[in-house]
Amino acid sequence: MTGSKRPSRRLLLQFGGGVAVHMMTDIARAADAEPGSAAPTGRRPKTLDTDYFKGMYATESDPWRFATSPYERDKYAATLAALPRERYASALEVGCSIGVFTRQLCPRCDHLVGLDVVPTVLEAARARCADCPDATFALAAVPGAWPDGKFDLILISEVAYYLDRPDLARLVKRVEGALIPGADIVLVHWLGETHYPLSGDEAAEGFIEGARGFAHVVKQSRTAEYRLDVLQAT
Ligand SMILES: C[S@@+](CC[C@H](N)C(=O)[O-])C[C@H]1O[C@@H](n2cnc3c(N)ncnc32)[C@H](O)[C@@H]1O
Repeated sequence: MTGSKRPSRRLLLQFGGGVAVHMMTDIARAADAEPGSAAPTGRRPKTLDTDYFKGMYATESDPWRFATSPYERDKYAATLAALPRERYASALEVGCSIGVFTRQLCPRCDHLVGLDVVPTVLEAARARCADCPDATFALAAVPGAWPDGKFDLILISEVAYYLDRPDLARLVKRVEGALIPGADIVLVHWLGETHYPLSGDEAAEGFIEGARGFAHVVKQSRTAEYRLDVLQAT
């Protein structure tokens, strides 16, 4: 079950010692439910690895419906609207997937680097951003891998909650080492129930706490579905 059809509501039956019926209300992001199970069964303790994401994209090119869902459309518009500056010299997007948001962000950036763990999605992102001459893409599983360079915008959208706490702390260190003074850091995370190591709130709050020594929150907003946090490097 990867939520391929994204119905507005899904009634799921699980057969065990009896019949349990779970009504899933995660309207927009059914792809985040535990594959192969009827409902979230508890958090995965460790950072989700590359094979997990390769599996997500193995049968569907856009399992989260980045290109078509109203949730993603509205979230992308809110993310662009929340950026403190009109233009960035050098942006880094962690977990760029097939480049739907990347394509919207690149007109505001002189240079943009997109990272993902799945080679096929990077190909799709390159194709989608073919008319963004200064967008480049690299295979990297953060925080173990990280690109060279300094950035005045780092975007971490729907990625930090795939990390366990030690890896989230390493990610914060990576970000700290890659910031141009005064840079913006944007976190966007879905708030629904998942099996990821961290919830959306835990990922965002953990990042903010870890970054306290070098960045402060300048904007926060929250809908019923996601939270958006903008930090600025001091
Ligand atoms: C839910 S998608 C989010 C896509 C996009 N950032 C957005 O908000 O629409 C998460 C993406 O992050 C990638 N990803 C997951 N863990 C990652 C990691 N440790 N390093 C880099 N990319 C990762 C996945 O392959 C996937 O394409």
